[in-house]
Amino acid sequence: MVSSAALPFDIRPLLGDAIYLAPSSGHFERDQLMTSLAQAEALISLLSVQVDEQLLAAAPRLRVVANVAVGFDNVDIQAATRRGVAVVNTPDVLTEATADFAFALLLATARRLVEGDRTVRSRQWTGWDPGQLLGADVFGTTLGIIGMGRIGRAVARRASGFAMEILYLNHHRTPPVEASHGEGPRSVGWEELLLKSDYLSLHCPLTPETQHIIDRQALRAMKKSAILVNTARGGCVDEPALAWALAAGEIAGAGLDVFANEPAVHPDLLTSDHVVLAPHAGSATTSARKRMVEICANAVRSVLDGHRPPTLLNPEVF
Ligand code: GLV
Repeated sequence: MVSSAALPFDIRPLLGDAIYLAPSSGHFERDQLMTSLAQAEALISLLSVQVDEQLLAAAPRLRVVANVAVGFDNVDIQAATRRGVAVVNTPDVLTEATADFAFALLLATARRLVEGDRTVRSRQWTGWDPGQLLGADVFGTTLGIIGMGRIGRAVARRASGFAMEILYLNHHRTPPVEASHGEGPRSVGWEELLLKSDYLSLHCPLTPETQHIIDRQALRAMKKSAILVNTARGGCVDEPALAWALAAGEIAGAGLDVFANEPAVHPDLLTSDHVVLAPHAGSATTSARKRMVEICANAVRSVLDGHRPPTLLNPEVF
């Protein structure tokens, strides 16, 4: 159950009478959501909703949680499984949109696009100046990717068009999983990734293992000219450490789409000229968001009809 205003597309045609659209004009307050869930059999949840033991306990009739996101760190899958509640997410349909956005952030940060926009808009631009807004090269540099899953690989495909050397790591502080030779993305260890990457882009899920994977120590180990890009989850980065690293010149910049306590942003990141900020918009294309909502609505329909939905995360319940 979601507020009708919270979803950009009308799901009623997909769900018929099965859904109750709560008469809210925006995001639910948690208390309001828990009350509304007392009779609900399905919840279409946004990633800003913590679907935890407490919330599930308030929804005794619940059969399915459809999370409008590929990431599902906001859902306690084990608690849902214990209660026999199916959980689905929305993989694949947002892969290319999110990879485009990661690359947009990388380019915008490297080439100081937002600063340039501000300069022109504020009428401070006085004409072409050979020393103005000098940025960093992207073509021919080295991109490090943490999390070489669907989105990580899609970013790597874009980077190869920029003749970037691609290094990647799937698990924190583990040795390379395979020997790579020749062209193409190369699996490396943690130290090599930090040492060699000109750009480091995060595409891992938020788990206890990846929580603060980018901490003060990691930032210190990166190149002083490096740029961090995060379109994964804010919790993967220790934000105070990042603010410190940017101010101290330990890294050169950051392109951030996600934050630890959204919509709050660390105050020092808000004022830093070395950061490009986006409002968790990685998958925000009309077609990707429409397909995400459709997956969720169809999954709800399937579960309520007794069928297994394609993107089920806890097959044990079926
Ligand atoms: C967005 O962050 C998602 O996980 O889909």
